[in-house]
Amino acid sequence: MSFEKELKKRRTFAIIAHPDAGKTTLTEKLLLFGGAIQTAGAVKSNKIKKSTTSDFMEIEKQRGISVATSVMTFEYKDLKINILDTPGHKDFAEDTYRTLTAVDSVILVIDCLKGVEEQTGKLMEVCRMRDTPVIIFVNKLDREGQGPFDLLDELEEKLDIRVRPITWPVNGGRNFKGVYHLTDRKMNFFAVNKTRLEEDIFKYDIDSPELASKIGEKDALQLQEDVELIEGIYDDFDREAYLKGQLAPVFFGSAVSNFGVMELLDTFCQVSPLPISRQTDKRLVLPTEKKFTGFVFKIHANIDPRHRDRIAFLRVCSGTFERSKFYEHVRLDKKLRFSNPYMFMADSKEVVDEAYPGDVVGLYDTGNFKIGDTMTEGEELQFTGIPSFSPELFREVINADPMKTKQLEKGVQQLSEEGVAQLFIMQPGNRKIIGTVGELQFEVIEHRLLHEYGAKCRFEAKPYSKACWLTSDDPQALDEFIRLKNNFIAYDKDENPVFLAETDWILRMNMENNPKVKFHTTSEFKVMA
Ligand code: G4P
Repeated sequence: MSFEKELKKRRTFAIIAHPDAGKTTLTEKLLLFGGAIQTAGAVKSNKIKKSTTSDFMEIEKQRGISVATSVMTFEYKDLKINILDTPGHKDFAEDTYRTLTAVDSVILVIDCLKGVEEQTGKLMEVCRMRDTPVIIFVNKLDREGQGPFDLLDELEEKLDIRVRPITWPVNGGRNFKGVYHLTDRKMNFFAVNKTRLEEDIFKYDIDSPELASKIGEKDALQLQEDVELIEGIYDDFDREAYLKGQLAPVFFGSAVSNFGVMELLDTFCQVSPLPISRQTDKRLVLPTEKKFTGFVFKIHANIDPRHRDRIAFLRVCSGTFERSKFYEHVRLDKKLRFSNPYMFMADSKEVVDEAYPGDVVGLYDTGNFKIGDTMTEGEELQFTGIPSFSPELFREVINADPMKTKQLEKGVQQLSEEGVAQLFIMQPGNRKIIGTVGELQFEVIEHRLLHEYGAKCRFEAKPYSKACWLTSDDPQALDEFIRLKNNFIAYDKDENPVFLAETDWILRMNMENNPKVKFHTTSEFKVMA
């Protein structure tokens, strides 16, 4: 098949959700439609249940699962669809944020009862930074939830995006009768159906007596009123606005009952973007370019602690990636080749000879890669837009075994390169501050340092709550600020200065008092604090 045809087939996206909204269930149903799995229950939930925070066996098991489900590929209607998995636990949210840099669009799952939850908002903020196109799936319609109009208002308000319903529910909870497709004019009748792929879909005009006799006069009238209202309030679906990340089409359904998923998938296939162009420090790279480029967005340690090798996940951005061909590792200025690049299917992996834009390949790594590294055919460019986000918890690493100082240094360095947590260095004394978004990450680090590097450490809590990257057009003003605030200044992995603020109030005061210094909540300086 020609390169152009391969490119046009690719759709690469992630499913995002607040934990428990139904991400794993929806992923599974999509794989079922794609024929990638045969039975429900084949995809393991990659979440660590709250009750097992200290259960390391669970964490180890989890790491095994998440390698296997890092990318799930299936074919549907002549398309090759790559789902990039994101961790279910909020303590690993940063991993999710990075994965979002490697997709071209997302499907956001909302629980119809809970609406927009804390993690939903944060994930959407990351999508908004990059104008990632979003499709919304309102899940669990088989349970009593909020009214659909209220939900749509809440989505618009809290997620700062325009919405456009594509399907519309007839009731919810025990009275849930199904969804009406607003553009196709088809009624899909609800039935609890966990594995079957066919749905009961019939074409009806909104005012047809047949529809009324099927769902009842009262519900038919309500549906007519709702549709009239929808057409009055919402503009027609505008694909251009969707592709710019300004408008989200909305679907209603019940993932666990396998209901409403096909409409979602069909629309996704019609409207979602092909592999998009990506920005580098030098120029925009188009997916159609013949020369290969790609970047690493995730690194996964080998689950066997006796081996230090890792799998780096590389997103192909342009050209054809070929097995055993030498490519340039731009940061190290080093030629590397990979004789066993992997591609992942739902529950297996296979060695691939070629990969195309949108694809993700797993590369065996013996320590060459950091998150964000770029590979090319020789051109010196670096993909941008793979930022670090401000952690929420900060602790100093204290060496608990002076005989193992070197092991500790190496372990902390490698784990931070892998993206397990962020490492900041404070002076004097080269003190190591670890920043995370959750408790669980500290437990993972302590456990892995001991078991993989033989290093013992303990953590000392620090009172900071936010890290802000600093820049200024006036180098002197920046130097002066750094000198004065030395006790609150740390350096990130690329030696950029970072201000560690104890409270939002302190941060605001410092911003007001130092107008020449710019404070950024991500390392890519897109979002201003
Ligand atoms: P997550 O990955 O977003 O965290 O959510 P997940 O799919 O694991 O779903 C969370 C819970 O919600 C699961 O129940 C799942 O069965 C349920 N669920 C998903 N979709 C629907 C739906 O459409 N309707 C209803 N009523 N429930 C749904 P659980 O009890 O946590 O796990 P399980 O024992 O059922 O697997």
